[in-house]
Amino acid sequence: MQSSIGKGFQLFPFLIILFVSLCLSHVCWIQVRANSVLNSTDESRSTDPFLLSTSLPVDTAFKFPSALPEIPSGNSSFGKGRIDLGGLEVIQVSISTSTSKQVWRTYEGMGLTIYQPINLPPSFFTLGFYAQLNNRQLFGWVLAARDVSGDSLRPPVGYIAVMNTTSMIIKQDGPAYFWQPLCPKEYQAVGLYVTTSPQEPSLSQESISCVRSDLTEKSEADTWVWGTEELTISSMRPANRGTEATGVYTGTFSCQRPNSSPPPPPLFCLNNTRFNLSSMPSEDQTSLLFKTYSPWVYLHPDEDFLPSSVEWFFSNGALLFQKGNESNPVPIQPDGSNLPQGGSDDGLFWLDYPADKDAKERVKRGDLGNTKVYLHIKPMFGGTFTDIVVWIFYPFNGNARLKFLFVKGLWLGDVGEHIGDWEHVTLRISNFNGELWRAYLSEHSAGTLVEACDLEFQGGNKPVSYSSLHGHAMFSRPGMVLQGEGGNGLRNDMARSDKFFDAGASYAMVAGPGMVEPPWLNYFRKWGPFVQHDIQKTFDGIAKTLPGFFRKKFRKFVNQIPRELFQEDGPTGPKVKRSWTADE
Ligand SMILES: *[C@@H]1O[C@H](CO)[C@@H](O)[C@H](O)[C@H]1NC(C)=O
Ligand SMILES: *[C@@H]1O[C@H](CO)[C@@H](O)[C@H](O)[C@H]1NC(C)=O
Ligand SMILES: *[C@@H]1O[C@H](CO)[C@@H](O)[C@H](O)[C@H]1NC(C)=O
Ligand SMILES: *[C@@H]1O[C@H](CO)[C@@H](O)[C@H](O)[C@H]1NC(C)=O
Ligand SMILES: *[C@@H]1O[C@H](CO)[C@@H](O)[C@H](O)[C@H]1NC(C)=O
Ligand SMILES: *[C@@H]1O[C@H](CO)[C@@H](O)[C@H](O)[C@H]1NC(C)=O
Repeated sequence: MQSSIGKGFQLFPFLIILFVSLCLSHVCWIQVRANSVLNSTDESRSTDPFLLSTSLPVDTAFKFPSALPEIPSGNSSFGKGRIDLGGLEVIQVSISTSTSKQVWRTYEGMGLTIYQPINLPPSFFTLGFYAQLNNRQLFGWVLAARDVSGDSLRPPVGYIAVMNTTSMIIKQDGPAYFWQPLCPKEYQAVGLYVTTSPQEPSLSQESISCVRSDLTEKSEADTWVWGTEELTISSMRPANRGTEATGVYTGTFSCQRPNSSPPPPPLFCLNNTRFNLSSMPSEDQTSLLFKTYSPWVYLHPDEDFLPSSVEWFFSNGALLFQKGNESNPVPIQPDGSNLPQGGSDDGLFWLDYPADKDAKERVKRGDLGNTKVYLHIKPMFGGTFTDIVVWIFYPFNGNARLKFLFVKGLWLGDVGEHIGDWEHVTLRISNFNGELWRAYLSEHSAGTLVEACDLEFQGGNKPVSYSSLHGHAMFSRPGMVLQGEGGNGLRNDMARSDKFFDAGASYAMVAGPGMVEPPWLNYFRKWGPFVQHDIQKTFDGIAKTLPGFFRKKFRKFVNQIPRELFQEDGPTGPKVKRSWTADE
């Protein structure tokens, strides 16, 4: 090795090139990491460029840091491994070397591997295969089904050749052939079969099953998994989702060709025709799940506006104002029992701080020691999953900061400030086995869905989340995320600090099947007053300080930022948000 470098080789330039490329790759890696936070299907899971070895991340199955707790058995079917969808019993097969067979692999782009579920329990059938990127640890599942009615499942009558990779110029061990079951009348296909030979799959035991139409629902692409110009692999999800929707996520994938004519018939998800909450965890089981997965929330070291409990906010001076009677605000009972209940956000009532300056400053800053989170328990995907929505209250949302050209951080006066800030993290947990599958982190008016294998854990199986400076948007990684284009935009800064809390340390379950809701939850008006910030004036003030050339650029840039990002309006409470009954 050494001698070959020495021969006819200038070591100095070589070292410089090595150094520069090391730096570049490091910088790139950091950038990709930061950008990726907003894209859960992202490229960020790229492997370390220096570890291009034969063992890929996907060859190792993801494992939670600690063993999952034993869930005490209840009288519901939660945690029992099988759920009856009404004539069709389903199990969740976690993809691993013992439950599945690797069928095909490509190294193109981030690389993809396709798995076939095998070793199913007697009388269970595959509904489709599983596909995953190579640069992430193996973490996925598909449902397999057993016919308990006698006509819920049927073998296909043949297969449609959807796609093959024979003529594609990609790095692959050999070509793959994607097949869609051709189902008998009144039956639908849920997933695809993949082979490495051009021969159509046999219609025997090994084949994948078709499902009776009424036991299926419309599905759509969920996340982009892998693709080239000629083909896109996406995971599938029910098209209708929410607390009342019966569509069941199956873990299978679809394969689309941009110019396929005619396209193959659509793939379906399953339908829980007996959706009656009998697979949901009991309150005790939910508490145990929450104690297992309750997130840590890290606030930025410079954060002045900390969270608190709702009770603390009410007891420390928050006042209820009524339109037309502004001079007579009333103190709020600790449980909110004197807040107007129900109705709509009609502007007749709002909350605000006390007039006294010191009292006002104190309320604004919250109280970490008195922080409490509020849990909303939601059935998802026809009751096959449970969403534990963790609501966090901050009495105040601080002002926004811009990054513009060489100006790294420009505080925007009072722009972005508002009273009463509700944020949430959602834990999506399997009702088959109590395992955390994904977490959703709220970020301003949107958010990111992160798979458990991509989360950072601390103290067992508790995910870590980072609350951005002032805006309190939740992210799964520390660092800076810009909302904007070309390196300019609104900053979200996240970092570890000694300001943090364990959401499991103090919580209350406030909503879910059979729970009594506290009165403040049914207060549907704003948690802060409407304050008109003069955004244009703030920007004009900043523009004046800039040299002419940058001034124009600055105006152009700020005019592109959607005004709703500045959230000047006091927000409404959790129950008024669309996600209360919908999917995130
Ligand atoms: C997320 O990443 C995928 C794959 O690179 C890309 O196609 C998609 O446009 C990205 N979405 C966003 C919102 O950046
Ligand atoms: C489970 O048992 C409890 C107490 O025995 C009962 O109150 C509850 O209704 C039962 N739940 C179901 C889904 O049967
Ligand atoms: C709910 O559905 C399950 C099977 O899906 C069934 O065994 C149970 O009897 C149903 N419960 C009620 C109250 O309808
Ligand atoms: C593979 O795909 C090509 C078109 O891309 C098609 O002409 C050929 O028939 C396919 N082969 C099989 C076995 O499906
Ligand atoms: C799904 O099941 C429900 C309940 O049985 C039924 O009302 C609905 O029509 C089914 N959906 C489809 C697409 O058949
Ligand atoms: C204004 O508020 C005060 C304090 O709650 C109340 O006593 C009074 O009746 C209100 N007046 C009107 C006109 O609603």
